[in-house]
Amino acid sequence: MAGSFHTLRWRDGVLELLDQRALPDHVEYPVFDSARAVADAIRAMVVRGAPAIGCAAAYGVALEAQRLSAGSGEAFLAGLEQAFDVLSGSRPTAVNLFWALARVRHVLDAARGMAHAVIAERLLDEAHAIAAEDLRINQAMGHHGSALLRDGARVLTHCNAGALATAGHGTALGVIRSAIASGKKVSVIADETRPFLQGARLTAWELQQDEIPVTLIADNAAGLLMSRGEIDAVIVGADRVAANGDVANKIGTYGVAVLARRHGIPFYVACPLSTIDPKVATGAAIPIEERGAEEITGFGAVRWAPRAVRVRNPVFDVTPAELVSALITERGVVESPDYGKIARLFKD
Ligand code: MRU
Repeated sequence: MAGSFHTLRWRDGVLELLDQRALPDHVEYPVFDSARAVADAIRAMVVRGAPAIGCAAAYGVALEAQRLSAGSGEAFLAGLEQAFDVLSGSRPTAVNLFWALARVRHVLDAARGMAHAVIAERLLDEAHAIAAEDLRINQAMGHHGSALLRDGARVLTHCNAGALATAGHGTALGVIRSAIASGKKVSVIADETRPFLQGARLTAWELQQDEIPVTLIADNAAGLLMSRGEIDAVIVGADRVAANGDVANKIGTYGVAVLARRHGIPFYVACPLSTIDPKVATGAAIPIEERGAEEITGFGAVRWAPRAVRVRNPVFDVTPAELVSALITERGVVESPDYGKIARLFKD
């Protein structure tokens, strides 16, 4: 939780998600009571951001167990398998989704043979644990990362890697929140983040809730501001980090990293270990989601491109590790990340 909102909350046996499609104008908490409903919400971007997607998916399995717990043993297990399938098919890039599903699968395997109600309870406990850990991890990242920011720093961020993208506090925005809590004055320049406008709609709103100074810019204004010395650091989140330190994050991140290098500005990536995928050797192997043409040809009911124009809409890109000044993790700051340094993170 940050300020006055919850990204996800468990209430009276169901999951409530802050509908991020309605922000910044409406704060609404639709209710979800099955794995399919949660998967649809993830796909439709009711909830988005790598860690928040992972938390929601874990709750999705728990909801399904609860829903099916009165059924026969076979139907119960088959229904849970379907829940895993439908949730893992909801979005492909953020590895936190698969990481969280693996955690609840482990709990399910350990509870096999127990009463359905007990299994359902254990799955729910695990979902709660994943969400609570996420909040603690973000606070730890905030603590480590805040040391990288000087008093008065003007920090550019891309997309929304805030409380809205996590169980609370945020990754990139968590570093900013922690720096401010430690007494530094920090202001944010938020890229609007075409085409889904997570920066304009979500980051700007979230920071306003906490009265953190934020200035919204068009994505293509970042180079000018950097060239004029108006940006001191870039901090972004990540959807998946490869074993060699390549970073998949919201489309446009790569361009920001190139600009930051050109202008000698540090480019930081705040990511929990659950976002690092040691099974993927380099960024080239990270699956990149492509979404519908309507996200490019217009927004909501408004269309500005000609009908039937050919469109590509990849929604993530990969920033090579060599452009990353440091990864900020819950285990500390990893400067100039590479294969060896990332492997060590998992050993300590
Ligand atoms: O498509 P989205 O809005 O889910 O993309 C989110 C991002 O790219 C975030 O930067 C990333 O998930 C990090 S969130 C802490």
